[in-house]
Amino acid sequence: MRKVIGWLGGHLQRLQIVSFSLIAALTLTLNTIVVARILRDYLAQAEDERVSRDMDLAREFYRLKQEEIAGISHRLSLDSSILQSLLPGASGDLTAKRHIDEQITNKITVLALGGTHLIAVLDKDSEIIIGRVLEPDGTLSELITSGSLEPLPILRYSEQQDLEVAATEVFPVALLDLVGLAGQAKITLIDTPQANPNPFDIREGSAGLALVGISPIHDPAGQRIGSVLSAYLFNNDFTLVDRIRTIAGIDTVTIFFGDLRVSTNVPNEQGERAVGTRVSQAVRERVLELGEDYVGRAFVVNEWYITRYVPLTDHLDQVVGSLYVGARVSVFENLVRTFNSRVTLTATICIILAGLVAIPTARFITRPITELVQANQRLAQGEMSVRVAPKGSGELALLGRSFNRMASNLQETQDQLLHKERLASMGQLAAGVAHEINNPLGTILLFSTALKRELSSESQLQDLKTIIQEATRCKNIVSDLLNFARQQEILAQPTDVHALLDEVLSNVEAQPAFEHIEIQRRYDSDLPVIEADPNQLQQVFANLLNNAAEAIEAPGTITLQTARVVAGGIEIQIQDTGCGISEEHLKHIFTPFFTTKPFGKGTGLGLSIVYGIIKMHRGQIWVKSEAGKGTTFFITLPIRREMHPIQPASQPAESDS
Ligand SMILES: Nc1ncnc2c1ncn2[C@@H]1O[C@H](COP(=O)(O)OP(=O)(O)O)[C@@H](O)[C@H]1O
Ligand SMILES: [Mg+2]
Repeated sequence: MRKVIGWLGGHLQRLQIVSFSLIAALTLTLNTIVVARILRDYLAQAEDERVSRDMDLAREFYRLKQEEIAGISHRLSLDSSILQSLLPGASGDLTAKRHIDEQITNKITVLALGGTHLIAVLDKDSEIIIGRVLEPDGTLSELITSGSLEPLPILRYSEQQDLEVAATEVFPVALLDLVGLAGQAKITLIDTPQANPNPFDIREGSAGLALVGISPIHDPAGQRIGSVLSAYLFNNDFTLVDRIRTIAGIDTVTIFFGDLRVSTNVPNEQGERAVGTRVSQAVRERVLELGEDYVGRAFVVNEWYITRYVPLTDHLDQVVGSLYVGARVSVFENLVRTFNSRVTLTATICIILAGLVAIPTARFITRPITELVQANQRLAQGEMSVRVAPKGSGELALLGRSFNRMASNLQETQDQLLHKERLASMGQLAAGVAHEINNPLGTILLFSTALKRELSSESQLQDLKTIIQEATRCKNIVSDLLNFARQQEILAQPTDVHALLDEVLSNVEAQPAFEHIEIQRRYDSDLPVIEADPNQLQQVFANLLNNAAEAIEAPGTITLQTARVVAGGIEIQIQDTGCGISEEHLKHIFTPFFTTKPFGKGTGLGLSIVYGIIKMHRGQIWVKSEAGKGTTFFITLPIRREMHPIQPASQPAESDS
């Protein structure tokens, strides 16, 4: 686990990875939900449309079957041999009866009808002359030679109107009994969830529902002498529903007598045909009671289906049952579920991929930050040379650059501090040594000068002069050293810088080095009096003026300029037109004992002393110089010593390290 967290990087990086992944997850989840919704709606609509098309097909099959039944009675009613045999047959003539039976049997065989069919030739009082029943397994029943079908309403209707009729009819149990079909029609009613406890038609269970066709038989004079009845019984006969299902590819088909399932391929919980179960109350109200189509989901037997129900009507347009087609919702829902789980799986894979992509991306983004953090730590441990490599121009590159700047400043400040310390300790040493040497040197000079006055020999005089000259030089060095040591203390008082400059100038101008030099003064008339040690500042100016004069060989100019600076201080510039300082030397000029002057001429302590004094005054000193073109020293000093050291407004960093 630790390894994994380490691999995922720092807090910022982990935060980025997590937010990347979260964004991906949010987007994909929303997408998945929306897509699943749309698909579900689309599929539901497609299912509805399919079921409604299925219903059109089923209805067409039903209509064809009704036409087939009507066709059988119609053709038999026109058969000439039946016409001839009808009256004799009705009065008991056996040959005539056999003739009629031959026609019926012939019809049944030729048509190869599947399912339970009844064909009967009736006399004018609706008494059966000859009848036959075809069982679903294709066997023919015994001859039926008697019985009155007179109570059948459609038969009476046909008689009264003297018309051919065909319709879906309720076949009373007594009449079914006459032709031996009561057993097949009997159905035990089964309690069904969501169904009305009372049957829609009290005859449900015993009576049959059948497609019935009646065709009257007329004698040549046009007198009705009998009729042909053909019927197809739905109860416990599944030929039609199964044929519709197979040929039209419909999930389930049912024919209802009232609200009772009499012919169906909808299965019950045991997987058997759900004959005997009943329609739900919702469908019953709409289809059976209002005579309208039912479209939509319905609870069928024991589960939900996407359904269509249309009413079936008898010859008087009374609703007697209904035709149903439907598809199981669970099948459709499985489809949706499979789809959803696939979409979810894809989304999950995408989220994981997003997370994996996020790792290198986050690393790429946080790398500069990590580098900065590490550089910071190294800097904190004192590694002053550490720098980062900022790339580009973004905020992080900016941060990197300012870090580098900060590190440089820090290094510079530290170097300055070191330099100061070094100067201080050297000062102490120098002071000690100088004091010790100063007195003996004084004695040497005193005695050698006295000796010089008494000597007469020219060569001895020359030697003595050399002694005096060298001793004087030593005294100068010692005095410089003492000055160098003295900068530690400052005796501050209100000081007029202009007056001080003028005083120093009047002292040095008399020297031979200043002979060919023009002095220019550009004093700021508003220059305030500052708090400083005038003796030490005098040394600063004297040193700088001497250096300037020594740099100028031919006639030249030294310009003294003063100005008040915004940050509560003053600036003094001492500019010469001398030889300038090479870039290489520029780095070292403030270092003690650095000199470019020939042996005996320079001590290399002048600028170190200047530097020390200015720093003690909390001022700044820097130089601008170009070999051959001259040099300018810039000094800033605060007006009051307790003020912060003032930074040059537009000048480059001090070149004093
Ligand atoms: N105004 C100037 N023009 C050219 N070079 C200068 C100037 N001031 C200082 N320098 C250089 O800086 C060196 C150090 O100066 P300083 O510390 O005064 O020692 P010194 O004058 O004894 O050599 C000099 O040797 C010289 O090379
Ligand atoms: Mg000097």
